[in-house]
Amino acid sequence: MHGNEKAIPGAKSGSRFVFCDISTEMLAISKDRFHLTNTQFITSSGQELSYKEEFDVITAIQVNHYGTLDDERAKAVQNSYNALKNDGIFITFENYSLYSNVGETLYLRRWQNYQMQQGKSMESSREHVGRYGKDYYPISISEHMEVMKAGGFNVVEILWVSYLQVGLLGIKTWEQENSRLRVDV
Ligand SMILES: C[S@@+](CC[C@H](N)C(=O)[O-])C[C@H]1O[C@@H](n2cnc3c(N)ncnc32)[C@H](O)[C@@H]1O
Repeated sequence: MHGNEKAIPGAKSGSRFVFCDISTEMLAISKDRFHLTNTQFITSSGQELSYKEEFDVITAIQVNHYGTLDDERAKAVQNSYNALKNDGIFITFENYSLYSNVGETLYLRRWQNYQMQQGKSMESSREHVGRYGKDYYPISISEHMEVMKAGGFNVVEILWVSYLQVGLLGIKTWEQENSRLRVDV
């Protein structure tokens, strides 16, 4: 495929990894790191992907917060849903917004303090936190979950939450209440 005989280690035989980003520069970085036989690189926006039932797992890490319109986000999620096989999983990590002005002030301050504890200067951490609502447009965790449902996922769960970032899981299943996935305790 690329003249390099190695595949991504640990991958099932015959599996492939497709890397997608709207930016050719970002894809060039991925190509540099993962120039392997079972990888493929696609320059496309999430809104333009047209795969149908091809993948077991799709991840979207910090890519769906630049558009201000909810339907743009839903379109990208819907395209991921369409690209998954039945029982395929979608894992996304995103920024989220708070529900109140007080909450916003407290959480942003906490996030800025955390960055400074990790060694960032006051100026640089303030600049970073100041991007909220200007360079990217967070929506609340419940709105994220609604976008995933609007995109097609009928199983949507929270995986992880920390410092204004959330990890969410969507499962594509054709069953309404998927009893196969229910665990008896
Ligand atoms: C914060 S970076 C995250 C990159 C990578 N996913 C990671 O976790 O390292 C955001 C990426 O989203 C890409 N991006 C922005 N809008 C996009 C869109 N509509 N469709 C696909 N990628 C997009 C940008 O080019 C950028 O590479």
